[in-house]
This record gives sequence, structure tokens and C-alpha cells, in this order.
Amino acid sequence: METLIPTINRLQEVFLTLGAEIIQLPQIVVVGSQSSGKSSVLESLVGRDFLPRGSGIVTRRPLVLQLVNVPPLQERSLYTWSACTCLCVKAEEWGTFLHCKNQVFTDFQEIRREIEAETERGSGDNKGISPEPIYLKIFSPKVLNLTLVDLPGITKVPVGDQPKDIEAQVQEMILSFISNPNCLILAVSPANSDLATSDALKLAREVDPDGRRTLLVVSKLDLMDAGTDALEVLLGRVIPVRLGIIGVVNRSQHDINTQKSLEDSMKDEQAFLQRHYPSLVSRAGSRYLAKTLSRLLMHHIRDCLPDLKTRVTVLSAQYQARLNSYGQPVEDHSATLLQIVTKFASDYCNTIEGTARHIQTSELCGGARICY
Ligand code: GDP
Ligand code: NA
Ligand code: MG
Repeated sequence: METLIPTINRLQEVFLTLGAEIIQLPQIVVVGSQSSGKSSVLESLVGRDFLPRGSGIVTRRPLVLQLVNVPPLQERSLYTWSACTCLCVKAEEWGTFLHCKNQVFTDFQEIRREIEAETERGSGDNKGISPEPIYLKIFSPKVLNLTLVDLPGITKVPVGDQPKDIEAQVQEMILSFISNPNCLILAVSPANSDLATSDALKLAREVDPDGRRTLLVVSKLDLMDAGTDALEVLLGRVIPVRLGIIGVVNRSQHDINTQKSLEDSMKDEQAFLQRHYPSLVSRAGSRYLAKTLSRLLMHHIRDCLPDLKTRVTVLSAQYQARLNSYGQPVEDHSATLLQIVTKFASDYCNTIEGTARHIQTSELCGGARICY
């Protein structure tokens, strides 16, 4: 994701100056059955440990995770970062929750504890679920301005305080997020269960029948029976998925218990892929998943560009018209305003063209073809 950050930041800066939040990046929403590895996949995308994970129902409320890109600590100043109100935070990365706005969390373990505590406040301590989202913002120089949503898994049989119609309730909750056409669906299916019965894909198909915004993540490659592998699945020969199928190995429960770091996990994942899927090693794994998402976001931006260009032109014409209506002599500050807008329009078009070029180059050098 990191290569995307400068480009998107520049675009976003220009849009903000134009007084409009023009590009809305798609929300990325994970769906899948319980314990398929959704929270683990999200964590590896963010590159930090902070989500509750584990066997059984752990994620019991939607978590809307808004990533906010901020300059590195030593470069932070009012001038470069006027939009942010958290200038007083003396940390490289931190988090805040909507439900306790004034509290700044710099310890990511504490963020996890707060998610767990707030989950209990909202849905009890006996496996109950609630559709009421927890809103968390993570500020960091290493993230894209992007929203990710972690959801409870699809489950069939009620346990603890869960209602009889738990399956329907969870499905409804998931659908309310993924029916948004500006959402990219990360359907997570474990490699050790049959893809044909994948709840994740089934739900995704309901709202995205053409598969224009669904990416399939096959987790738990390491847990397949001896003598079997997921090669056919990963090659799309079992069920084709337009945007791609990406196999990953996340941390096991034992790894979580022994606090294996994300970094070590990524290394071991690469080694595993090298050993078991040498032909796919450049098209699998958590890093490749992150790259693919970046590429999808780029494509999304590219698709938005024609419309954005039109808007800038219209805006420019509006300023021109207003300027003309003042008659002579032209008020200085209006002229300046027009200059600014024109300057931004041209900067902005350069950025767009740079982005388009970047997309083309990365398509030429990069693995799977993605039609988004
Ligand atoms: P979620 O319920 O879908 O959010 O799944 P979690 O991310 O909480 O993971 C559920 C359990 O599966 C945890 O104990 C994880 O450690 C484990 N897990 C997730 N992905 C993998 C994987 O790729 N390999 C192995 N061995 N375990 C995994
Ligand atoms: Na789980
Ligand atoms: Mg989870």
C-alpha cells in the first residue's frame, strides 16, 4: 500500500483545496464464515497487531476502521497538516475511538483491549452480537486514507446469548455493508473447507453477481490435509473470481498465544509458499494481497477520473463566469482565486496523468490481470 500513499495524498490535498472530497475510495469489507481468518487478514493489511482474533465468535460488532495518513512525527507542523486536530499527539502512530473521543491510544495492545471492552458493553459478555459498529481511527504515516470494515462471521447455530435467528441477523448485518456499491468485498474462505460451499462467496454474489468488486482470499493454506493442496482453487479452476484469488497463511492460534510478530509471520508465509506453491509465489501471500488492493484502488481512481476532470472544468467555468459578472475592474482576490483554481486544475491533471501512467506501468510489470 505504501507506494500509493504519496499519489493519493496529493490528489486528496488538491480535492480538499477545491473544497470537495471528490474521490471516495471504496470501503474494504471482509466477509466470511466464523474463524475463517477475517480479522487476521485485516491486521496484516494494516501492518499492526490490534484486532481481537481467536477461535469461536470473537468479532461480535462491526468494526469500522478508518485509516488516516499523517506526516511522520518530525515533519508535523501546522503548515503541512492543517486539517488535523491532533497536532499535539507526540506519537508516530495512534488510535482514537468515537465512543471515547478525547482519549488517545498510542499502545496498540490497549486498542485491542478497548475493542474487547466496547464489544462487551454493546453486546454483552456471552457471545451476543450487535449491529452497532465500533468506530476506530488509526493515524499513521504508513497507512492510506482508507476505511476497512471487520465484521462478525457467518454462523449457523446459536450459542450463549445469541438469538435463534443468529444466522439471519449476521447475514443482514453483512449485507447492509456490502450492498454499498462503493465497497470492495474481501471474501475470506479457509482452504480446509470446500470452496463450493463458501458462505463468503455466496453472500458476495448476492450483491455483486458479476464479481466486479469481490476479491477471494483463501486463508489457512497451512491447514490442508496432507496430500492435498489448493493449487486448482488458487488458479481459479474450481470457481473463477474475476478480480482474483489470493492464498494466504496467517498466524495460527498457537502463534497468537506465543505472540509471534506480524513480521515473522510474513517471512514464514513466504517460506511456506516457496515450499508448497513455487509457481504461485509471486501471486500469493499477504504482501501480494496488499499490492492487489492498491492496484484495485488505483483502478477505482482511474475510473473516477473522467468525472473529476469534468467537475474541475465546470468549477473553473463557474469561477470564470462569476469573475465576468463583476465587470471591470476585476477584484483582485477573485482573480487570485481563479488563478489558484486553474493552477490546481492543472496540477491535478498532471497528478491524474501520473496516476494513469503509474497504473499502466504497474500493469505491465505486475502479475495478475485485474478487470475492475
Ligand atoms: P475471524 O473469526 O474470521 O475473524 O478469524 P480470526 O482472524 O479471528 O482467526 C480465527 C482463528 O484462526 C485464530 O485462532 C487464528 O489464529 C486462526 N487462523 C486464521 N488464519 C489462519 C491461517 O492462515 N493459518 C492458521 N494456521 N490459522 C489461522
Ligand atoms: Na473467530
Ligand atoms: Mg474476526
